[in-house]
Amino acid sequence: MSKKAIIICASTHHGNTRKLANAIADKYGVEIVDATKTKEKDLSEYDLIGFASGIYAGKLHQAVINFAKNNLSKNKDVFYIITSAMGKDQYKSIETAIEGKNANVVGTFACKGYNTFGPFKLVGGTAKGHPDTDDINNALRFYEGLIGA
Ligand SMILES: Cc1cc2nc3c(=O)[nH]c(=O)nc-3n(C[C@H](O)[C@H](O)[C@H](O)COP(=O)(O)O)c2cc1C
Repeated sequence: MSKKAIIICASTHHGNTRKLANAIADKYGVEIVDATKTKEKDLSEYDLIGFASGIYAGKLHQAVINFAKNNLSKNKDVFYIITSAMGKDQYKSIETAIEGKNANVVGTFACKGYNTFGPFKLVGGTAKGHPDTDDINNALRFYEGLIGA
């Protein structure tokens, strides 16, 4: 039986993270919730829950953090997808948010995302063009690994 999956997303800077979430949703019929618009949802019926966000001052978007705190039920399989200027793992904020929920983190994915924050705007931004086709394909492979496709 296929897993019932959902991705909780906030992608407010350039829609970078949303590109990855959309690619997964389009290919695998995964539901996406925009955490900046939807604050509450019963997640108990889902087998696999993704938290997807850009990184802002070292953290996932506060809307995703709040959503996870308020709605994630105990003992769930979760995964994280982030885009950032650095393209590096930065999961501390979401880990802290779901402490005590006994979540099973089944995978994490990070890649670079176009950034024009602050002074970077003056030089045309950093990580221009990301996520690119390779990043998107890597995210799809990551998700396929999670569901055993
Ligand atoms: C206010 C702000 C703060 C940011 N802080 C960081 C940061 O601490 N580390 C980092 O690597 N990138 C940082 N970035 C870059 C974003 O994480 C990157 O552009 C990301 O792909 C944005 O995702 P989104 O388009 O899905 O919102 C920041 C961007 C903004 C607008």
